[in-house]
Amino acid sequence: MDLSTTYLGLKLAHPFLPGASPLADELAVARRLEDAGAPALVMRSLVEEQIARERIDAYLHAHRHGESFAEAVSYFPSPERFTFGPEEYLDHVRRLKDSLSIPVIASVNGTRPGGWLDYPRLIEQEGADALELNLYQLALDPDVTGEEVEKEAVEVLREVKRTVKIPVAVKLSPFFSSFAHFSQRLDAAGADALVLFNRFYQPDIDVENLQVAETLHLSSSDELPLRLRWVAALSGRLRADLAVTGGVHTAMDAVKCLMAGAHAVQLVSALLRQGPDLMRVLRADLEHWMEEHRWDSVGEMRGNMNLQRCPDPAAYERANYMLMLQSWRS
Ligand SMILES: Cc1cc2nc3c(=O)[nH]c(=O)nc-3n(C[C@H](O)[C@H](O)[C@H](O)COP(=O)(O)O)c2cc1C
Repeated sequence: MDLSTTYLGLKLAHPFLPGASPLADELAVARRLEDAGAPALVMRSLVEEQIARERIDAYLHAHRHGESFAEAVSYFPSPERFTFGPEEYLDHVRRLKDSLSIPVIASVNGTRPGGWLDYPRLIEQEGADALELNLYQLALDPDVTGEEVEKEAVEVLREVKRTVKIPVAVKLSPFFSSFAHFSQRLDAAGADALVLFNRFYQPDIDVENLQVAETLHLSSSDELPLRLRWVAALSGRLRADLAVTGGVHTAMDAVKCLMAGAHAVQLVSALLRQGPDLMRVLRADLEHWMEEHRWDSVGEMRGNMNLQRCPDPAAYERANYMLMLQSWRS
């Protein structure tokens, strides 16, 4: 039984990866993940604003502007809210590399070209095996068109690709108007993988206190179908690998992702809830299921349910939509 897969040029023993999160913040937890069989892991993101803030603070300090510029940075979360500052993040990449033998995928989050784009190169110098470029952004400005948002994202990717040699995955939200087209642009700009999809922070309203309620909801497998659809739509059409993040909790979830065309699946909520030993369980469950269903390898399963297999994917989608509308019986 061959569970191995290739993702971002890395040969992985199986497709389950701990995704970007606090899971790699502590060396002890990262080692437990490795001991439980994680074939690589993704670090939390270093955020564009953290880097900008550090530089602005240094400038203000050097030029004694004191409070006069304070407003300019007042909307950035204060540095204490972040687990790692930019320099600490680089140190942590090095520490993980020194203590683990599995590949370490670092992550940066930024949305527009700027000084933070020095960091991918610094991260590479600390030994990261690959980089996830997390393009988390909400396009709230009504004067900015979809084309402009996409163009900026592609520019950021091009710049990152220009500065590093390690593979670069792009982590995206589903909120682009023509996702298949945008994916192709990223593919052409050199994305080595697409990671689908970022889960947005979903604030609620506290109606008693008239406040925004900051809640962090972990996911469930209900979030998987959106990912399955897009992986199935893109599989076989891009040079880039595909990874699923969001809603992978069981080996069956992973089987669906692989059949849709994924090279790897990332887990965060499931590992936060159940701990690193879940890696062992998922691997064993996948092996067991494949044995029962007579699949010899993950490679053989990959993409056998992708949309390229039907002659007219758009018509197939429409047909299923119409059937679904008719399917409810009271
Ligand atoms: C506590 C927490 C911290 C996270 N931090 C990051 C991060 O720094 N960068 C990032 O790209 N995604 C981050 N994520 C998102 C996860 O990587 C993942 O995409 C998301 O949780 C969906 O996967 P899941 O259903 O397996 O949880 C975080 C998620 C959680 C729950």
